[in-house]
Amino acid sequence: MKQPIHIAVTGAAGQISYSLLFRLAAGDFLGKDQPIILHLLEISPALPALQGVVMELQDCASPILHGVIITDDPKIAFKDVDYAFLVGARPRSADMERKDLLQVNAAIFSVQGKALNEVANRTVKVLVVGNPANTNALIALSNAPDLKPENFSCMTRLDHNRALSQLAEKCDVLVTEVKNVIIWGNHSGTQYPDIQHAKVKDQGALSLVDHNWFENTFIPTVQQRGATVIKARGLSSAASAANAAVDHMRSWVVGTSEGEWVSMGIYSDGSYGIEPGLMYSYPVTISNGKVSIVQGLDINDFSRQKMQLTETELKEERSAIKHLLS
Ligand code: NAI
Repeated sequence: MKQPIHIAVTGAAGQISYSLLFRLAAGDFLGKDQPIILHLLEISPALPALQGVVMELQDCASPILHGVIITDDPKIAFKDVDYAFLVGARPRSADMERKDLLQVNAAIFSVQGKALNEVANRTVKVLVVGNPANTNALIALSNAPDLKPENFSCMTRLDHNRALSQLAEKCDVLVTEVKNVIIWGNHSGTQYPDIQHAKVKDQGALSLVDHNWFENTFIPTVQQRGATVIKARGLSSAASAANAAVDHMRSWVVGTSEGEWVSMGIYSDGSYGIEPGLMYSYPVTISNGKVSIVQGLDINDFSRQKMQLTETELKEERSAIKHLLS
């Protein structure tokens, strides 16, 4: 029998976790023969609701779920964990401006970064889902000086999956016949969903759709998809976000297929002229757990301008929380 792997999930009583935890317990992340122990973090007032979620997890009688720890203390939640899904965040309330949202979340992610630094496994793989995800990830990693920037990532996989799906629908093909879309930059309305290097049944995507559709339909549809789901459902994307979190972490562990890439928010090394040290979403390949930015893609003026716009927003977010970066 394999040794259990320890997985932390924050915001464990929230909407996304209500899908994510059951996917983890079903073996969708590490496989159906890999035992796991879940470490669930919530704020104190949400612990009673979390107890209810844990009851439901027990009621699944999952053969791989070998234990559940629930706590409101990040140092207990992150103790010796191999993977951390940082989902919990403060939502924006009606009276809050974007900069207030940045501040309250920055405070949460600096505490969690410090706790990861102190108690997590040194090879921990951290995925930040809670918004503003890129900047929250930057805060967490800069408060974890004993871990490497490579331990941290943030989620643009939901946007990537949305892009795959929109392009497949437009070309009337299966989603498996579309590859190599890219989400550049921030997980926000300024992100740049790019199909200039995408392939549909091994043909260049832009030879199958016209530029007008790409620019005026595809890009805004992907950028605004989260808002469109909220409008229809009255709640933000949850099951698809949990699915993307599983996809992201699974790619990090099992790697990408030959000739394919995925989008991931990672610590910029300056590739494609993006400022080093921002958490920026790039096309990446992954092998043996090592993430590498796809190099050498031609970037035309249209793309360059959109990549810079989302970079500018990330720089602004970073300067708003500069005091929390060490
Ligand atoms: P939710 O509001 O249902 O759940 C969030 C949970 O986090 C709540 O239970 C809350 O008590 C908890 N929480 C708040 N502060 C915490 C702290 N300091 N420590 C531990 N837990 C804490 O929200 P939902 O729908 O589950 O979304 C979670 C986050 O994910 C939001 O920030 C949302 O904007 C973001 N999101 C990101 C996506 C992405 O693609 N990166 C996609 C969809 C959502």
